[in-house]
Amino acid sequence: ETEKYQELYRPQVHFSPKEHWLNDPNGMVYYNGTYHLFYQYYPGGINWGPMHWGHATSKDLMHWKELPIALYPDSLGYIFSGSAVVDVDNTSGFGSKGKPPIVAIFTHHDPKAERAGRNDFQNQSIAYSLDEGNTWVKYRGNPVLKNPGIRDFRDPKVMWYARQKKWIMTLATLDHITFYSSPNLKDWKKESEFGKHLGAHGGVWECPDLFPLTFEGKTYWVLVVNLNPGGPNGGSATQYFVGDFDGSTFMPLNKDSKWADYGPDEYAGITWSNTGKRKIFLGWMSNWEYAGQLPTEKWRNAMTLPRELSLTKINGELILVSNIVRELDAIALKPVVSKAALSINQPEFKFEQKLPGQFKMKFSLDKLTTHTLKFQNDAGEQILIGYDDEKKHYFIDRTKSGVVNFNPNFAKIVYAPRLAITSNSDIELVFDYSSVELFADNGLSVMSCLFFPHQPFTHLTLVNNKGIILKNLEIVPLKSIWK
Ligand code: FRU
Repeated sequence: ETEKYQELYRPQVHFSPKEHWLNDPNGMVYYNGTYHLFYQYYPGGINWGPMHWGHATSKDLMHWKELPIALYPDSLGYIFSGSAVVDVDNTSGFGSKGKPPIVAIFTHHDPKAERAGRNDFQNQSIAYSLDEGNTWVKYRGNPVLKNPGIRDFRDPKVMWYARQKKWIMTLATLDHITFYSSPNLKDWKKESEFGKHLGAHGGVWECPDLFPLTFEGKTYWVLVVNLNPGGPNGGSATQYFVGDFDGSTFMPLNKDSKWADYGPDEYAGITWSNTGKRKIFLGWMSNWEYAGQLPTEKWRNAMTLPRELSLTKINGELILVSNIVRELDAIALKPVVSKAALSINQPEFKFEQKLPGQFKMKFSLDKLTTHTLKFQNDAGEQILIGYDDEKKHYFIDRTKSGVVNFNPNFAKIVYAPRLAITSNSDIELVFDYSSVELFADNGLSVMSCLFFPHQPFTHLTLVNNKGIILKNLEIVPLKSIWK
């Protein structure tokens, strides 16, 4: 079993399927001590194809167990992205109050209708499970929400709006969001539209999410809207708005785009349902610009680490903060480096420390200044991660990171603006064979980034850092989740 997860580039602390193609996370729901992760899956190869919902579960958000495919394409089409809810009051009538159904709400994408030149080939459907997600029954009355003639009409994210005792569906409808409501998950009524002239519109709006978060005792609503292309570093990315929601309309506080992750390789990120006040976000760790060309052989694409979301205020604006879930601590091994303070007194400081394939690294700086961390291997490949104080941005340079020529858009330097206004800074990185996730300033500037070196990066050099003191430096190897 476990040797299946040991190939070249295979992440050891991120979910990826044993074999074949994966894209968006779907139907993420927490129920009875188990986190369910469904996902866009094509079991016929390592390229995108007729979509299924693959299925994996976890008790701790770290170790995943891959289960049989949950939903197969049918006469109404492929099973595109969507969500799942626990229907506690059995509003749908699919279960009973003592035995609430889990209901999945997804897009049926009909390739025949699309080929025939129709505009209404994407419709919303539902399925339910009475055995904790193991087996699913598609509703006979599908589709439950018919397409009014919009070519991009998909990715329903549903939540229970307790105040008005109704379900709210947030749906991506081409270049805006349409909100629908329902008493029973079967009959849907349009409530409002949002966003035609707000936010980023470099591409089509996809995979939205709507959820409340509390800051200083006040509840705000966060509307997540994935966008492809048009991200801050090209291709796909996750933008969000903070505002208010009254059961019918979303009223934003910000008009411009903000990004949940500035890196090139987080997309279709949304949150788990039924986790109470805790909001846990997970994205697809890839980008439509080159997802189908990544140099893996048996499987293609992985998920990001799960991240806990919160809000903070900077210069009067509410900002979404993402941090790795605390469950990561459970797979942390003994630190290989642990230093209260490391002073760098030469321009190039070679750190002779063998690095494991997957590890977490963190440090703080009393005063954030320009610096670069250079991770290298013996093949002369490298990835540079750092901060430019003149431009006030963090960067990751993967131009010489190994295999980069599978797509012209891959070899590049990517940037995230610094949002924090403090002079000190905390930096956290998670490396996992072919990916790095950067959480700067305690989760204010986040970037996910893929790379494909011929060997893991084992040497670290601190460049351009004279006079810098790294405080509380730690390098912590992580235990493989597949062993
Ligand atoms: C986003 C997306 C969704 C769609 C799915 C198809 O990555 O394009 O909008 O439902 O992928 O696999």
